[in-house]
Amino acid sequence: MSNPPDLIDGRAVAEKVYAELRGEIAALKAEGITPGLAVVLIGDDPASRAYVRSKDKMCRELGLHSVKLELPAETTQTDLLAHVEELTRDPAIHGILVQSPPPKQIDEGAIVRALGPAKDVDGFHPLNIAKLALGDASGFVPCTPLGCLRLLRESGVAVSGAHVVVLGRSMIVGKPLALLLMQKGIDATVTVVHSRTRHLAEITHTADVIVAAIGQAGFVRAEHVREGAVVIDVGINRVEDAAAPRGYRLVGDVAFDEVAPKTAAITPVPGGVGPMTIAMLMANTVKAARLSSSGAGGAASR
Ligand code: GUN
Repeated sequence: MSNPPDLIDGRAVAEKVYAELRGEIAALKAEGITPGLAVVLIGDDPASRAYVRSKDKMCRELGLHSVKLELPAETTQTDLLAHVEELTRDPAIHGILVQSPPPKQIDEGAIVRALGPAKDVDGFHPLNIAKLALGDASGFVPCTPLGCLRLLRESGVAVSGAHVVVLGRSMIVGKPLALLLMQKGIDATVTVVHSRTRHLAEITHTADVIVAAIGQAGFVRAEHVREGAVVIDVGINRVEDAAAPRGYRLVGDVAFDEVAPKTAAITPVPGGVGPMTIAMLMANTVKAARLSSSGAGGAASR
């Protein structure tokens, strides 16, 4: 019988990030700069609403300037662009995030391009993606990949030279995480698999680290995981549960009960990657404020 797995505690690591950020925020405030984040929510998807509320709450706890803009589901592209352009011009706002996914009539790419690279704390702007690919640290890296990397590092998982298999190829997690992990200095050997991949279990079975970001509850089963692997579960899926107080439970992309006993370490859901995504958003907002104060606010646009 192998040892029980280490549970990777995302809340504890997030607290460590906040402790570091508090010092940096105090230093910026001493220079007269309060980092400011605007979060835009379009429509009333309950999960998106909950995320936006958490982001706003964390800003306030850290003493950041927070603007929460809630727009109706029928908001047009033109109206949204006008709001985003106003926030882009506002010197009290250093970071802007439009909660994804927006309603169908919204062209997300056009909105990200309009908000520009310097305030793109999501790291979704083409220039920030290019900088990630180039290994240029002046850009913004998407929050969830950053959070996954920090969790691995804080858990003492050696990523350099390790085979990391990323499940999922989204622009929010899979693709940027692969770019991040293969950077010089991080040095993972990365394989990206997705819903169309053949022989998926054979590939995941060769992984030292599996990152599940495929968006399907319980997708990763015991047969996918090699004994002693590390598993990072990015999924946050609501599944109906009449016995739960809210009528649903949050579960990850990993079938935790059968996978955990095989692993050396695993993140729980909730309490794993989720808290880290918010922590890294706060870190990116502080970085945006710092860059703007050093006159490099356009750094991301050079
Ligand atoms: N929806 C789920 N995760 C994210 C994220 O990191 N950023 C944005 N903007 N929307 C999301």
